[in-house]
Amino acid sequence: MARKIVIASGKGGVGKTTIAVHIGCYLASRGARVVLCDGDFGLNNADLLLGVESKSAYDVVDVIEGRCRAKQALVRCPQSPNLFLLCSNRSEPERFVSAQSLKIVLEGLSPLFDFILIDAPSGLGDGFHRAASVAEEGLVITTPQVTALRDADKTVSALKNYRLKSVSIIVNRVEGERLVKGEIVSPQQIGELLRVPVFGVVPEIGALGGQGPVRHRAFTTLGKNLLTGEKKLYDPSKKYQGFFGGVRRVMKEFLS
Ligand SMILES: Nc1ncnc2c1ncn2[C@@H]1O[C@H](COP(=O)(O)OP(=O)(O)O)[C@@H](O)[C@H]1O
Ligand SMILES: [Mg+2]
Repeated sequence: MARKIVIASGKGGVGKTTIAVHIGCYLASRGARVVLCDGDFGLNNADLLLGVESKSAYDVVDVIEGRCRAKQALVRCPQSPNLFLLCSNRSEPERFVSAQSLKIVLEGLSPLFDFILIDAPSGLGDGFHRAASVAEEGLVITTPQVTALRDADKTVSALKNYRLKSVSIIVNRVEGERLVKGEIVSPQQIGELLRVPVFGVVPEIGALGGQGPVRHRAFTTLGKNLLTGEKKLYDPSKKYQGFFGGVRRVMKEFLS
């Protein structure tokens, strides 16, 4: 049976889809069979990031309404043959899909896969409820910004009502240099503030936002933690510490 993990956030644009896609690619590269379920019905962009937007003949609503079987709504990712996207891009955003009907679709796929990652819509509305109801584990994505943290706090509390096996956070877009200078709160402080374990840390990655997924050690660490139960955290400040880190910081300031 697949592990069902919801990837949620209060605030939009903090990196849910980016992190879901990159974790999915890593797990698939290690031989796990992975479904990425685009829970942002009608407004998603996981298909764009994976370059499969024109390849889906059916989507999850077609499955629910009996026009096709669940397997027919899966699109295999060209760069990662063990990774499948369960699209929702053909439905109108306001279309109501119940948690129960999504649960039935995912239960049907579960025996065939190792992981089902559910990329939830931002906020705490119907879409969040649907995604949280079908999951067994929860990852809340936040950035170190105050507005994101406040919304992450609400999301963590909301997820705790779903009796998941675990709820933890991933702190995204952590700028190592600002961390060393003490200009932003550290992931550890965020964990203490929100009273939730920190599952992972992802730095600001310049190469993101281009064509397709990128390779980065922060995503590898996240994926390994999921696969093995390890609790390693990527340290974005490492390259700005010590003598060479100091030189790098001075050079960066000089060039900016
Ligand atoms: N670690 C990161 N470094 C740099 N850019 C990022 C990072 N994570 C996300 N982004 C960018 O932020 C934007 C929003 O990310 P996205 O994953 O779509 O957020 P969400 O799914 O939470 O709305 C995208 O343009 C993405 O490339
Ligand atoms: Mg998204």
